[in-house]
Amino acid sequence: MLKGKVIVLGVTGGIAVYKAVELLRLLTKAGAQVHVVMTRAAIEFVAPLTFQTLSGNPVHLELFNLISEQEIGHISLAERADLFLIAPATANFVGKVAAGLADDLLTTTVMATKAPVLIAPAMNVNMYHNPIYQENEERLKRHGYLFVPPACGMLACGYEGEGKLPDPTVILEEAIAALTPKRLSGRRVLVTAGPTLEEIDPVRYISNHSSGKMGYAIARQARLRGAEVTLVTGPTALSVPCGVKVIRVESALQMRDAVVKAVEETDIVIKAAAVADYRPKLRAGMKVKKNAAELAIELEKNPDILSEIGARKGNRVLVGFAAETQDLLGNAKSKLEKKNLDMVVANDVSQVGAGFNVDTNIVKMLFADGRVEELPIMGKDEVAGIILDRVEELAKGKG
Ligand code: PMT
Repeated sequence: MLKGKVIVLGVTGGIAVYKAVELLRLLTKAGAQVHVVMTRAAIEFVAPLTFQTLSGNPVHLELFNLISEQEIGHISLAERADLFLIAPATANFVGKVAAGLADDLLTTTVMATKAPVLIAPAMNVNMYHNPIYQENEERLKRHGYLFVPPACGMLACGYEGEGKLPDPTVILEEAIAALTPKRLSGRRVLVTAGPTLEEIDPVRYISNHSSGKMGYAIARQARLRGAEVTLVTGPTALSVPCGVKVIRVESALQMRDAVVKAVEETDIVIKAAAVADYRPKLRAGMKVKKNAAELAIELEKNPDILSEIGARKGNRVLVGFAAETQDLLGNAKSKLEKKNLDMVVANDVSQVGAGFNVDTNIVKMLFADGRVEELPIMGKDEVAGIILDRVEELAKGKG
């Protein structure tokens, strides 16, 4: 996701410098070209050679270092960067930038750049809550600087509380977010994902193979594009994407209640969940014993959540999925019409690499105006991105 992007990774002096090494590895793995700038204090913790080796670029340490006859290092870095990422950032660094001071290479390049600046502070909990630090952070935020909030936990100084540098994967995600155009800014998106569980007794249930991967990918991509995202999810083993509000449910009835409540505050609804169409008519209070040779479980129909939303969709963009094993286009078209959708994403779940519990999908997108768009096999993140490109167009059409 960072292919071709130039990122300047600023490293300031704190015990969390070792985590910046892992962050650098993640950034380069995601395709970014990374140039590291270290302060004098940072090199006391990890040698520049480590960053140089992993970035494949010289580490910048001195302010007046002529890279070539024509190019002055700090200005060149400031101009070439797509993103400045400072991790870990000390109170000292934040204070200096907030005060407009530029007395070393890092503060000078940060002051000189027009690229977005993302700061991941890490410090002692009392320093973090010190009103002077907080005022400095607020001042920078007002000027458009972005922050990754520190994590809570045991700090290197022995204190417990806020101030830990977040996991490098979280910082990577925020870097990706900082570089993603905010085309869904101001939009409220509701995504459903995962399976539902319909209990038979306290230990057994009816469900399906949905892993939640497709829906979680959509929720993540929508948030990266600036939307306010609510994810209503059945049980899955996945971590909730950064910045997404989650509502956890188990059964179709619980999902229905959660969706009906959340939809009021929503402009776009994307229903990727695999909702059980039926549930046991009676849930046994005790574990059903295996005394009989045969057992019949009577099922009753669950509400069709998507149809219910479709019947009163107003000006919302409504997107459904169709999981089919035969007549993909015919069945998907019928769902598009019956459920009053703007778009349906059809996947033939009997195809290898499509549908349930895999990292890829093969989809056809059908639109209310009759258009059909076919995508080749691709990762679910990529599919999610294309679905959201189309959703953006549909949302624009509705004003
Ligand atoms: O979770 P993964 O492992 O990544 O797998 C992805 C997926 C296969 C689950 C996903 O790509 C997908 O196809 N989701 C929809 C699955 C499904 O239930 O399809 P359906 O054709 O039965 O339902 C059509 C639409 O109506 C869906 O948007 C569904 O969310 C919705 N529905 C269905 C039944 C019901 N009672 N209420 C609903 O809202």
